[in-house]
Amino acid sequence: MNKVLIPTKLSDVAANTLKTAGYEVIQDADTPLDVQAASHPDTVALIVRSEKVTPEIMDSLPSLKLVIRAGAGYDNIDIVYARKKNVDVMNTPGANSNAVAEEVMAMILAYYRHLVQADTTTRAGLWEKKKYMGSELTKKTVGIIGLGNIGRNLVKRLQGFEPTLLGYDHFLARQRALNIGVTPTSIEDIFSQCDIITLHVPGGPSTHHMVNAELISRMKDGAVLINCSRYGVVDEEALAAAKAAGKTIGYLTDVHPKDAAGEKPSAAVADLLLPHLGANTREANTKAAKRAAEQMVAYFSDGDTSCVVNGESPNGL
Ligand code: MLT
Repeated sequence: MNKVLIPTKLSDVAANTLKTAGYEVIQDADTPLDVQAASHPDTVALIVRSEKVTPEIMDSLPSLKLVIRAGAGYDNIDIVYARKKNVDVMNTPGANSNAVAEEVMAMILAYYRHLVQADTTTRAGLWEKKKYMGSELTKKTVGIIGLGNIGRNLVKRLQGFEPTLLGYDHFLARQRALNIGVTPTSIEDIFSQCDIITLHVPGGPSTHHMVNAELISRMKDGAVLINCSRYGVVDEEALAAAKAAGKTIGYLTDVHPKDAAGEKPSAAVADLLLPHLGANTREANTKAAKRAAEQMVAYFSDGDTSCVVNGESPNGL
């Protein structure tokens, strides 16, 4: 019987679907993956969320054939090593898109209307109505960098606010961007012209510090930058320096080096800082679990490799 490890908090839909299809499933979100791997060396497949799948983990599982990231990005899996070992890697692009797009909407509205601070001070007995003068999202110019599943979903969520939408994506043809209501624009012009700029690109070397001091210097006073993609896409030290020099820009993010929030630049420079909550909805978790299990069954039963990722950069964020 094929043994699958799910060392993460994932909807039961995955384990149930796999068990019905005849797999042996061990789901344990409390024991570290290396410990589980050592106890189950006959594992053929893994479904992970943010657990790191390192060369050591793969070496400890000689029967491993498939690793599925229940999510869009797969930068926690050493894909180069996986290829060397003939281990296929899949993600579940699209399962999280709605959840992340809704998180971005919530962040913009919470920031524009000072909801987090106003809740805190009102609970403390203050009535600071005058202090919390807000802004409206309606008719703002919004720049979306990365028009994959999440970026395109966000376009739909924003449209009720009658925005001007500018977008940048290497992979999306100009006409397709125009068809969804987005004007293709250079990154430089997006930074110069937008009230809100939101990043939906993969992490990794190709996007490391993509938002640098030069782009930050182009931002208009009062503009807001949102990073719910990956830590490292924004040069946060450059951002902190620009803010310290008096630039009035907002920074809303849900990414930071895990375990170091509070110490690293994000905490000091962010106006809203969340623990990568984007995909954290019951609906997205269920969708990702269901897709991961179905992809696995199709892979082992029918040899379906159509969901195997073939680049280092995740497409579909
Ligand atoms: C993803 O890559 O799926 C998103 O960033 C959400 C997540 O990692 O939880």
